[in-house]
Amino acid sequence: MTAYEYETHEYDVVVVGAGGAGLRATLGMAEQGLRTACVTKVFPTRSHTVAAQGGIAASLSNMGPDNWQWHMYDTVKGSDWLGDMDAMEYLTREAPKAVYELEHYGVPFSRTEEGKIYQRPFGGHTTEFGEGPPVQRTCAAADRTGHAILHTLYGRSLKEKAEFFIEYFALDLIITDGRCTGVVCWKLDDGTMHVFNAKMVVLATGGYGRAYFSATSAHTCTGDGNGMVARAGLPLQDMEFVQFHPTGIYGAGCLITEGARGEGGYLTNSEGERFMERYAPHYKDLASRDVVSRCMTIEIREGRGVGPNKDHLHLNLYHLPKETLDLRLPGISESARIFAGVDLQKEPIPVLPTVHYNMGGIPTNYFGEVLNPTKDKPDAVFPGLMAVGEAGCASVHGANRLGSNSLIDLVVFGRAAAIRAGEILDPKARAHAVDTAHVDKILERFDRIRNASGGTPTAELRMEMQKTMQADAAVFRTDKTLADGVKKMTTIAAKLDDLHVTDRSLVWNTDLMETLELCNLMPCALATIVAAEARKESRGAHAHEDYPDRDDANWRIHSLAHVDGNKVKLSYRPVHTEPLTKQKDGGIDLKRIVPMKRVY
Ligand code: FUM
Repeated sequence: MTAYEYETHEYDVVVVGAGGAGLRATLGMAEQGLRTACVTKVFPTRSHTVAAQGGIAASLSNMGPDNWQWHMYDTVKGSDWLGDMDAMEYLTREAPKAVYELEHYGVPFSRTEEGKIYQRPFGGHTTEFGEGPPVQRTCAAADRTGHAILHTLYGRSLKEKAEFFIEYFALDLIITDGRCTGVVCWKLDDGTMHVFNAKMVVLATGGYGRAYFSATSAHTCTGDGNGMVARAGLPLQDMEFVQFHPTGIYGAGCLITEGARGEGGYLTNSEGERFMERYAPHYKDLASRDVVSRCMTIEIREGRGVGPNKDHLHLNLYHLPKETLDLRLPGISESARIFAGVDLQKEPIPVLPTVHYNMGGIPTNYFGEVLNPTKDKPDAVFPGLMAVGEAGCASVHGANRLGSNSLIDLVVFGRAAAIRAGEILDPKARAHAVDTAHVDKILERFDRIRNASGGTPTAELRMEMQKTMQADAAVFRTDKTLADGVKKMTTIAAKLDDLHVTDRSLVWNTDLMETLELCNLMPCALATIVAAEARKESRGAHAHEDYPDRDDANWRIHSLAHVDGNKVKLSYRPVHTEPLTKQKDGGIDLKRIVPMKRVY
C-alpha cells in the first residue's frame, strides 16, 4: 500500500506530450469523438516543436516540379537505406495532405507572389531521383514554422474539447496483463498524484538531446517516454543514430536553421574557402546533414577551423539581400545577434555541428502502434500503446534524417495514430479496471527517488553522462572511443542508485523533477553507446572510423536495446524493404530505392 493518494481520470485516449506530434494526435482523436486527455510537463506552446525553424517537407510543387516519389527517394537515400520502406512511402505520400490540413486549420505559412505556400530548398531534397537540381520542398512560416504549427494545433485541440493537464509529469506506464492501461502522473504545482486510466496511451514525449552536453534541444528533451518504455521491459530501436546539425551557434548550441543555407548561405573555413564544394560537388552546402557535419569536423581536425582555437567554422549570410533576411530569416537574425553577438548582414556566424535529433526511439509501425518484436514476430504490436514524433521510430529516418522531415513526421504520424485509434477503439466499451497493484509499485519507485539520500548530486551525475556522451559518441566514432564510452557509461548509470535528492517537497520541486528526468535520460544514453559500439559499419549518422563503409550484408538491420539498470541486451529486427504500393499501381520504381553508394 503506497503512502500517496491519487485521483483517477478515465479517458479513451491519453496523450503524453504536447509538441507537434502530441497535439496533432490529440486533435485527431478529439475530432473523432474519442474522450482525449493530453498531459504535458510544460505549457503546450512551450514544447520543443516551438523551436523548429526552417520548415516542413511536402511535395506540393509550388515552386517547381516535384512529386512524392522524389521525396521518398531522397528520404530513403537520406536514411542510408535503414528506414522502413512502407513507413517512408506512407510519410511522403501523406505529406501534402497533412500540410494542406495544417493550412486549413490556420497555420500562417509564408506565401509566394501568387498566394501559394512558400517552399525553400533544404539539404538532401532533390529532383529527378537525385539527378536534378535541389528542389524547393520545405514549406515555411518564415523561420518560425514550428511556432506557427504548435500554436495553431493547440487552439484547434481546445476547440475540439480535448482536455489538457498542464505541468503534470508522467512517472510510468501502467502495464496490466501484457497491455498498457494508463499512466501515473505527478502534478507539479500542488504535488498531487493522478492516474489516467485509458484504452490507449500515446507517447509523444520528444527526443533525448539532453543526454549530450551541447544540443539544440530544449532542457525539457529528456527522453521521458523512452525511459518509461525501457522500464516497462520494451525495447528502444536504432538508438546509435544521433544527428548533429551542422549549424549550432558556437558556444551557445542554439540552432541556425538549414533554411539559411537553403536561402543561399554557405560555410567557409579559415582560408575563406567554400569547402563543401570539394566534398559534395553537386549539392554543396545542401548535401545531407550527416555529410555536412562530417565535412565540418574534418575541416576543423585538419586545422582549417576559424577563431583563436581553430575550433569552429563560419556560416555566411551577409551577401543575401536585406529583404530576404528580414522576410525569410527574421528569427535567426535575432538569434545571431543575441547568442553570437554578430550582425549577420555584416559578419559571418560562428557555427559548429551540434546534437539535434534522435533517429532512434520507441519502435512502431506506420500507424504509431508500439512494437514488441520477437524473433518469430518482428512486427508484433504491444496493445494499448502508441508512440509518435521524435520519441517514436517508425522508422522513416533510418540512420539519418533529412532536414524538414521531422515536422512532417510529427503531423503525418500524429494524424495516423488518431486514424488508427478511431478504427480500433470502441468509445462505448469500458476501460480496463485500474491496476492498483501496479500503480502502487510506480508510486513506491517515486517515493524511493524522492527520498534518495546517497552521495551523488543529480547535477553532477548528469554532467558526467553528458560529457561522456559528447566525447565518446560523437560525429566520428572509433572502436576505442566507443569501448571507453560503454565502460564509463556503465559505471555512470550504476550511480543512479547513489543519487542524493536534497529537496523532499512535492510542490514545484525542480531537484526531484530533474532527478526523474535523469532517470529517463540514462537508459537512452546507455542504449545509444552500447548499440553504437556493437555496430561495426558506417551508416548515416553513425560514422565509424574503423569500419568506414556501409555493410548492407550484415548491418542493414534495426538494433533493439532492452535496458535494465546499467545493463543493455541487444537484438535486431529486419528492415522493411518492401514499399506499400507496387509500381504498376502508382508506386515507386523499385530500381530507384535499392541500396547504392550515397553521394551528393
Ligand atoms: O534547420 C532547421 O531548420 C531544422 C529543421 C529540422 O531539423 O527539420
